[in-house]
Amino acid sequence: MSDVVSLLAQIEDTGRDTRGPGYQRAGFSNTERELRDWFLAEAARRGLDTEIDDNGITWAWATAPGDDAVVTGSHLDSVPGGGAFDGPLGVASALAAFDELKASGALERAQRPLALAVFPEEEGSRFGVACLGSRLITGAIEADRALGLTDANGDTFADVARGYGLDPNRIGTDEARLEKVGSFIELHVEQGIGLINTDQAVAIGSSIIGHGRWHFAFSGQGNHAGTTPMSHRADPVVAGSRVIGDIPVLAAGHDQAVATVGRTLIHPGGTNVIASGMSFWLDIRHADDAVVKQVLESISKRAQDHAGDTGVQVSISQESYSPTTYFTKELNDRLISLLPNAPLLPSGAGHDAGILAPHVPSAMLYVRNPTGVSHAPEEACEVDDQRAGVSALVKVLEGELGIVGVAS
Ligand code: GLV
Ligand code: MN
Ligand code: MN
Repeated sequence: MSDVVSLLAQIEDTGRDTRGPGYQRAGFSNTERELRDWFLAEAARRGLDTEIDDNGITWAWATAPGDDAVVTGSHLDSVPGGGAFDGPLGVASALAAFDELKASGALERAQRPLALAVFPEEEGSRFGVACLGSRLITGAIEADRALGLTDANGDTFADVARGYGLDPNRIGTDEARLEKVGSFIELHVEQGIGLINTDQAVAIGSSIIGHGRWHFAFSGQGNHAGTTPMSHRADPVVAGSRVIGDIPVLAAGHDQAVATVGRTLIHPGGTNVIASGMSFWLDIRHADDAVVKQVLESISKRAQDHAGDTGVQVSISQESYSPTTYFTKELNDRLISLLPNAPLLPSGAGHDAGILAPHVPSAMLYVRNPTGVSHAPEEACEVDDQRAGVSALVKVLEGELGIVGVAS
């Protein structure tokens, strides 16, 4: 039996960013595989039966496999330069919760099967589409489209998945497996300031706000930086950076909308070379899906205008979109009755639980993050709060497994 703190300590050196603080744990990378193998070993050490399904999702059965299973887990990949808790806290807490249920003898009274799950490429850092594993199993992304996605090296998901031991012909919607899941509970570090000024370490998720990603690709004329007069240039970097500079004002025109460019690419990328291509990836989020659309339209229009002014072309393509998702009411009502003091928090961050929610009853628990920072090395979670998160998860699992009655 290990507690959540010591479980996280076991992986604290895996995938450290060699360029600075934080982690580089890209989806379907050797590092994610190493973390997955750690999870498999921890599950095996506990005597759990494990399997990796056709979409690369890892399952560990804490009881005999069966229908109407209660499933808990999260992901082990990170954004570039990410923190230690986004994903791994939910996985380590799942193992720690299992340990508690086992040690107390409660698991023997479970009325439903229990499984732990780890989803691959949740961040979409490698192939651009967040929650790739849960999108694939639910059919939220078509297998053909996913298989054709490429990473920064030009490697297709089909090839990378094959190298990961998956069969590209079997990747895609898996209704039979999904039907076995009776409820999915994901515990996650809180990614904002929602719990900082409260006396509560744990919150219950109410919704995940709508979010999407778009690729803006500007193309112009590559040329010599010294011989090309300013009046004769078709420079995509100028067009793209003008758009990026306008985004804060365009987003601010819509209350609560957030729009971010966190990744750009200049091709071919030489100091003395006028680029022939410039790309940026835009992330927009708002609780009202219509507002996301409006923000996208205003930024797209601005991109067309700046492209026209600078003599370059722009093409815009959607990489993913998830509408605002509300967690399953009946399940959330049960969580609220078990954790009556836990605030209800909407999330600006996407999660596999949000992708699963339209298909299986899903819910989330958030554990306080004293810095309020996430997707950065400063992301934090106090050890007492980590343990409070596990206690909350144990209560919820006991309720779902029918071990302890839910107050009516
Ligand atoms: C994932 O954490 C996201 O919200 O992008
Ligand atoms: Mn996450
Ligand atoms: Mn994340």
